[in-house]
Amino acid sequence: MRVVKSIKVLRKLLRKEKLSNHKIGFVPTMGSLHEGHLSLIRNCRRENEISILSIFINPKQFVKGDDFSSYPREEKKDIFLAKKENIDIIFFPTNKEMYSDGHSTVINVEKLSTVLCGKYRPGHFQGVTTVVGKLLNIIEPDTLYLGQKDAQQAIILKKMIDDLNWPVKVNICPTVREKNGLAMSSRNQYLSDNEKKEASILFRSLKEAKHTILSGQRDSKKIIQSIRNLITKNSSAKIQYIECVNADTLEKLTILKGKVMIALAVHLGRARLIDNIQIAVK
Ligand code: PAF
Repeated sequence: MRVVKSIKVLRKLLRKEKLSNHKIGFVPTMGSLHEGHLSLIRNCRRENEISILSIFINPKQFVKGDDFSSYPREEKKDIFLAKKENIDIIFFPTNKEMYSDGHSTVINVEKLSTVLCGKYRPGHFQGVTTVVGKLLNIIEPDTLYLGQKDAQQAIILKKMIDDLNWPVKVNICPTVREKNGLAMSSRNQYLSDNEKKEASILFRSLKEAKHTILSGQRDSKKIIQSIRNLITKNSSAKIQYIECVNADTLEKLTILKGKVMIALAVHLGRARLIDNIQIAVK
């Protein structure tokens, strides 16, 4: 396994692999690796000859009030875990390597970036698309691996790749959960044991909503209210949003039909948690 900090060195290494027609898979992360990341890495390893993991805490996607300075940084543990998973290359750039002085070009996916989380974290998705766009230009992978937990991020990145005609496949892998249903996230470290227990209500309420929809309920307002009730009754979480949207376009749904996604964001203790569930509704 190589740990590479320089774009130039990485490009040189990858040129050789490309000349040998090796398939390159890419897992972008901000480090603090957990089972969710490891499952992306395993899919990547299975489907490609060369697997690259990037670890870069991208300042441009943190907005005012976010946790940039306290975001977990676990370089040694991350390298250890990546090695255990047989990653070929870790790309671990510095801020300066990624953003030269006076960096002024951004990528913005309109509309999709302003709904759901985008409404509450303006500029966040522009930071994500800009950094992933740069990483894709540097690595030129065949396949990009993303998690379903960050469903909006995955949809926006897919749209960016499609709109900009980049020859990259996107593989969206299922959310990995704790035993109690809590979606794995680096930010779960902010939760106390008790908050972790409370947080199990998020997925439980989404599953219950799915069951109610599959039993015939089509009114999104009723579904949202039932999730809201369950969360407030069973936890101290402060709900930021609960929305029923089309799972491809992220458009709000009043009547639930087609590819439905219920997405939510809450604050619990120090953590902001997101989760979602998808349901095919006839
Ligand atoms: O999901 C993340 O960890 C980040 O948003 C990503 C995709 C690595 C971009 O910085």
